[in-house]
Amino acid sequence: MYSPLAFVLASLPFLTAAVSPASHGIAVPITKRDNHPTGVADPSKLHGRIKHSVAKIQSGFAAYERNTGVAHPLSRSTKHVGRDSGSDPLTDDSAMRWYGTISVGTPAVSFTVDFDTGSSDLFLPSSKCGSSCSGHKVYNPNASSTAQALSKTFSLTFDDGSIVTGEQYTDVVSIVNLTANSQTLAGATNYSSSLTRKNFMPDGLMGMGFQAISRCNAPPLFQTLISAGVVTSQVFGFKFATSGSELFLGGTNSALYTGDFTWIPLTVEGYWQASFNRISVNGNPVVGSTTAIFDTGSTQIIGDPTGIAKLFDSISGAQSAPHLGDGVYTIPCSFDTPISIDVGGKTVGISPASFNLGSVPHNNSSTCLAGAAADKSLTGEFWILGDVFLQNVYSAWDVGGSRIGFATLA
Ligand SMILES: *[C@@H]1O[C@H](CO)[C@@H](O)[C@H](O)[C@H]1NC(C)=O
Ligand SMILES: *[C@@H]1O[C@H](CO)[C@@H](O)[C@H](O)[C@H]1NC(C)=O
Ligand SMILES: *[C@@H]1O[C@H](CO)[C@@H](O)[C@H](O)[C@H]1NC(C)=O
Ligand SMILES: *[C@@H]1O[C@H](CO)[C@@H](O)[C@H](O)[C@H]1NC(C)=O
Ligand SMILES: *[C@@H]1O[C@H](CO)[C@@H](O)[C@H](O)[C@H]1NC(C)=O
Repeated sequence: MYSPLAFVLASLPFLTAAVSPASHGIAVPITKRDNHPTGVADPSKLHGRIKHSVAKIQSGFAAYERNTGVAHPLSRSTKHVGRDSGSDPLTDDSAMRWYGTISVGTPAVSFTVDFDTGSSDLFLPSSKCGSSCSGHKVYNPNASSTAQALSKTFSLTFDDGSIVTGEQYTDVVSIVNLTANSQTLAGATNYSSSLTRKNFMPDGLMGMGFQAISRCNAPPLFQTLISAGVVTSQVFGFKFATSGSELFLGGTNSALYTGDFTWIPLTVEGYWQASFNRISVNGNPVVGSTTAIFDTGSTQIIGDPTGIAKLFDSISGAQSAPHLGDGVYTIPCSFDTPISIDVGGKTVGISPASFNLGSVPHNNSSTCLAGAAADKSLTGEFWILGDVFLQNVYSAWDVGGSRIGFATLA
């Protein structure tokens, strides 16, 4: 937890490296649906997303232990809490999901996938999936001459108790012009309510974490492309913005950032897990050095109830809003308080627009949902930094160098 000594030590600058040499990577356009097209947010969906993010991270800890034989160092830092009374169904709507297109099989069929650094499997609905997958394009291994069944199953448990099961295959998978000839993928034979078309826009997920948290215990697509020598740089880059968002594979897109990257070493390869130095409000530190899981598949900044309360105590007009969902906070819609997160010595400002998730319904547009929230199963040993943070910086995800880098958006 926060102590002045830890604060000073954590503030020592990590090395900043020059931009990597010109690479021949490839840009993948990505989009998300407007998170609140009418300016009015949906608090029930927000609450569902908080729980979904935390449950996803917790289930990855279990996969880590199965795959590596040792407990994930953070696995003891969450506690089991009973489900909320009147718990809402898991409504992880696609609104805040960043997705793009891949193609799978021979002949190639295109699918939309959520690019998720908080998981590590390529996950598609299979042709064996019935009505729970309706509206999604399904992967049919029988129609692909390059598909191979691995005769292995997988199962994923969601926080609402629903279980998604299916079978593992390998097949040819391409993203833009980068092709993996034998990529392991999970074909789901049923989908949970959170993944129905109404709640989840893309067909599937493309995990961009490390193999240690893979449910299939198989290399994620980017790692397969590295092993096959299809990409020469072991880095991918992300820009998330209202327009011109992009995933760059095999390096970073130097047109999208200025200056050097500040790099932070990963503490464990599983999630993209590294420490931030502090979170400040109005320039005053409110949360000290803490482990972060950088997750493109999460919307908010999610922390423990005590840390999150400290953050909102310093924001004028902010209020805890348990009636809108456990851990949810509101801010005045006119909110413009400077919030920043120091990562490896680089101060990343969280723009008021990115921290404001839209107005609370039926409240005359005076009260808005905040981009940070608490989850009571978290104890403060780690926070999840999702889209609300990542929108404010260009990020470089260095698989080979086991580090994450941040540069100022151009
Ligand atoms: C592939 O075809 C076989 C034989 O018709 C069938 O039993 C199986 O369910 C099919 N697999 C999928 C994933 O559709
Ligand atoms: C993909 O396309 C880019 C840009 O056209 C090119 O520079 C790169 O060499 C291509 N990569 C492969 C593996 O074909
Ligand atoms: C999916 O199928 C498995 C195995 O048959 C079952 O245990 C599970 O409850 C199903 N999940 C949903 C969401 O229907
Ligand atoms: C509605 O806005 C007022 C401030 O104008 C605030 O005090 C109240 O808590 C808000 N209601 C909800 C449901 O957030
Ligand atoms: C709603 O906002 C409008 C415009 O700011 C204001 O004129 C009106 O009095 C407000 N109504 C309530 C019930 O707060």
